[in-house]
Amino acid sequence: MRNIIAANWEMNFSIQEAESTAKDMVKKIKKSPADILVCASFVHLDRLSKIFKNSIIKLGAQNMHFEEKGAFTGETSPVMLKSVNCEYVILGHSERRHIFKEDDGFINKKVKSALTHGLTPILCVGETLDERNSGQAFDVVSRQIKKGFESLLDTSDVIIAYEPVWAIGTGVAADIETISEMHDFIRSMVKNSPILYGGSVKPKNAEELSQIENVDGFLVGGASLKAEDFKDIIEKFIKIRWG
Ligand code: 13P
Repeated sequence: MRNIIAANWEMNFSIQEAESTAKDMVKKIKKSPADILVCASFVHLDRLSKIFKNSIIKLGAQNMHFEEKGAFTGETSPVMLKSVNCEYVILGHSERRHIFKEDDGFINKKVKSALTHGLTPILCVGETLDERNSGQAFDVVSRQIKKGFESLLDTSDVIIAYEPVWAIGTGVAADIETISEMHDFIRSMVKNSPILYGGSVKPKNAEELSQIENVDGFLVGGASLKAEDFKDIIEKFIKIRWG
């Protein structure tokens, strides 16, 4: 299975900060058997594509609209993303689902549009704490995947990121057993897609998390804002997987 370590910078950095962090990453991250990518704000993408051009780091966006163009004020299309050499796009992140009320049908349209335009979607799934506590975690994730993948003929180009909402930005990742159970469950549903884990991945827990079967990489938020920490996470994953 393909391995991927992705940074999600979320809504952080001025263009100057983004540039200097990206340059620092290019200097520090020279080679990796896993794919490395940075998903940044729309404002940063064009500049970053130039900085990452001759490096191993690939570029991703954090959202997009499914239409190619038109009267959708404030939105960004897949065609626009391709025009700045973006290769990946995060879709259905829990912040999009919960703060901006994106539902599974809407996210499914984006997944299909991304694939049509040659972008690799990173479909985020994950339950809230209430859903976990009421025993619905597997149903929620299963629904998000089934609906997110609806009417796709080939899912091998879609990356899944399991991000339990209660572990995002808290500093405390889900425990090994919880991650392991959910990744095995997702693997039983989806044979060909890499499954990333996200939610408080840090240099200090990266080694432990890298040992979990069916974790094919990480989607890293806060810890990806520092090149040194992101590099550290990548190196730990490589050490565990390739020795
Ligand atoms: P943190 O790593 O900051 O918990 O964020 C996870 C995330 O949401 C990445 O998409």
